[in-house]
Amino acid sequence: MDPSDLMHIYKDIFAKKLVLITGKGGIGKSLIAAALGQFLAEAGKNVLIVQNASLDQISPLFGLAPGYDEAVRVQPGLDVLNIDAIANFRDYMVEHLGQKRLYKTVFSNRTVKGLIDAMPGWADVMLLGRLLFETELRPRHDYVIFDGPASGHFLNLMTTPDSVLSMSFGGPLAKETQRVKDFLSDQAKCTMLYVGVPEELVVSECLDFLPRLLKVSPVSVGGVIMNRTPPPIRLGQNPDVQLKPAERYAVRHSDAAEEALAMLAADLRGEKGTLDSIPMWALADFGFIKEPLPAGFGRQFLTPLRRIDRVGASS
Ligand SMILES: Nc1ncnc2c1ncn2[C@@H]1O[C@H](COP(=O)(O)OP(=O)(O)OP(=O)(O)O)[C@@H](O)[C@H]1O
Ligand SMILES: [Mg+2]
Repeated sequence: MDPSDLMHIYKDIFAKKLVLITGKGGIGKSLIAAALGQFLAEAGKNVLIVQNASLDQISPLFGLAPGYDEAVRVQPGLDVLNIDAIANFRDYMVEHLGQKRLYKTVFSNRTVKGLIDAMPGWADVMLLGRLLFETELRPRHDYVIFDGPASGHFLNLMTTPDSVLSMSFGGPLAKETQRVKDFLSDQAKCTMLYVGVPEELVVSECLDFLPRLLKVSPVSVGGVIMNRTPPPIRLGQNPDVQLKPAERYAVRHSDAAEEALAMLAADLRGEKGTLDSIPMWALADFGFIKEPLPAGFGRQFLTPLRRIDRVGASS
């Protein structure tokens, strides 16, 4: 698909500077973050992918060793950063709040670790603050993509600003937390992309998760990707007769995926009134994915099998 068509198809996402990705574990969040980053970089944009993982999962997709704390340029226009809580705390104090001396004299890695363990909300606020910093205050990139945690942890992460604010500490932490919250609430700048697969259980989880997220967090939902969608199989007049077992399995798999997509689409199209106007894109299953990802991978990967539109038109 032509890059400009793809830009248009994902316009709800690409209209925002910060895209937060979540979904079930192991479902393709990192690959999708990488595909989005590569596609945008090849379209001439500057992109930063941020992770907060024990191991950088993105750099290896581009043939590089996992990075740690420092941004790694994986290809022209595309940087990848994996941050850990302690290094983030230091960078935050030193670069963002300008408190280098305070950090050096008062905090050591050990005290920071103790603080973070004692009050995990800090680490989360600072992670979100780092996203704000990279997107707004050090805007070296046109886009920041956060390859976020799985949905349960993501929900917690998104409620941390409110939890921290409700502890009414006051002072710089409260001020910073409010700033982070305001930034996440800015629907012109931030959005969330949910990644699932077209299976009944995953779709049910998604339909449970999205309204909960919308209720507890200010972040907008920019879209849903249904990854690894099997191609629809159209049988002729006389279905079952000559199907081999493997073919019968493929048909059942495809039918089940169609049903799951229909169930999701019905809700996303607002028939139940909760998730009105959230676009959905169904992406193909590419089987074994060769690494490093070749040039043009993102464009091919992101070309949807179909998109369920705002008005409910399937294309
Ligand atoms: N559409 C697809 N076609 C083929 N393989 C895919 C597709 N999407 C994801 N995969 C593969 O599935 C595996 C898991 O993907 P990925 O690591 O991106 O998931 P994740 O959601 O980031 O997982 P985690 O929760 O562990 O971070 C990877 O090997 C990836 O290459
Ligand atoms: Mg991942």
